[in-house]
Amino acid sequence: MCWALVLSGCPEKDMNHQEKETISELVKKSGLRHIAFIMDGNGRWANARMLPREAGHKVGADTFKKIVRYCCSIGIEHCTVYAFSTENWNRPKAEVDAIMRLLNKFAKEAEEEKEIEFHFIGDKTPLAPDMRAHLEKLEADTVGRPYVLNIALNYGGRAELAAAVNALIAEGKTTVTEDDISARMYTAHSPDPDLVVRTGKELRTSNFLLWQSAYAEYYFSDKMWPDMTKDDIDEIVRSFAGRKRRFGGLDKA
Ligand code: FPP
Repeated sequence: MCWALVLSGCPEKDMNHQEKETISELVKKSGLRHIAFIMDGNGRWANARMLPREAGHKVGADTFKKIVRYCCSIGIEHCTVYAFSTENWNRPKAEVDAIMRLLNKFAKEAEEEKEIEFHFIGDKTPLAPDMRAHLEKLEADTVGRPYVLNIALNYGGRAELAAAVNALIAEGKTTVTEDDISARMYTAHSPDPDLVVRTGKELRTSNFLLWQSAYAEYYFSDKMWPDMTKDDIDEIVRSFAGRKRRFGGLDKA
């Protein structure tokens, strides 16, 4: 499936219209505006099939496109995915290069997309200059579209906070508010995530959206990321819709 067809001309043939309505309704009723994914398990998915880790990332990239497309189609306005952390540079060069190739390929395909505003969140300075220029052009060209996709690339939550604090110091601030910090996060254009999903059977946050996730709900899946399906997203939406979010307060009587 071509990424260019993300939202246009892609009827969800494998889903009954009624069911899709129900899930879209649940998204709306539950106030699920922003979902974030820690796409973990590509390497183990490949190992289990005696394939190189790079093959897991390749299938993982296809899954990412399918899942983002589906999230948009059920009315989730903001998606954030953890594609490459500040620590991922420590992986073997062949694996890092393979992920960068997938990201470059995706950025090329994304030029054809019409409904998504793209943001590559993280420190872009160590990226190859042509890659960086391309990602920045994509960001500039897609402003104002109905759906937002944040792709965390060379991203670390602590580094993001340190960069925000340094920006505030450079502006001459001597005291700061929570709003000042939020406004300097890479995701300032999106509401805080309502739900953070981690696949791959691991139960940790791995430096992802530390500030923004203060009141997010979490969902941990035993599935490896390449195996994630639209049905899994439906299940995750149902789980979210059944939760009571109190934001530190009490249930309303
Ligand atoms: C974690 O799995 C996954 C990553 C570090 C990379 C995620 C990258 C992709 C899904 C592909 C490229 C993305 C885009 C946006 C085109 P892991 O390798 O740590 O898996 P493991 O825990 O099983 O080893």
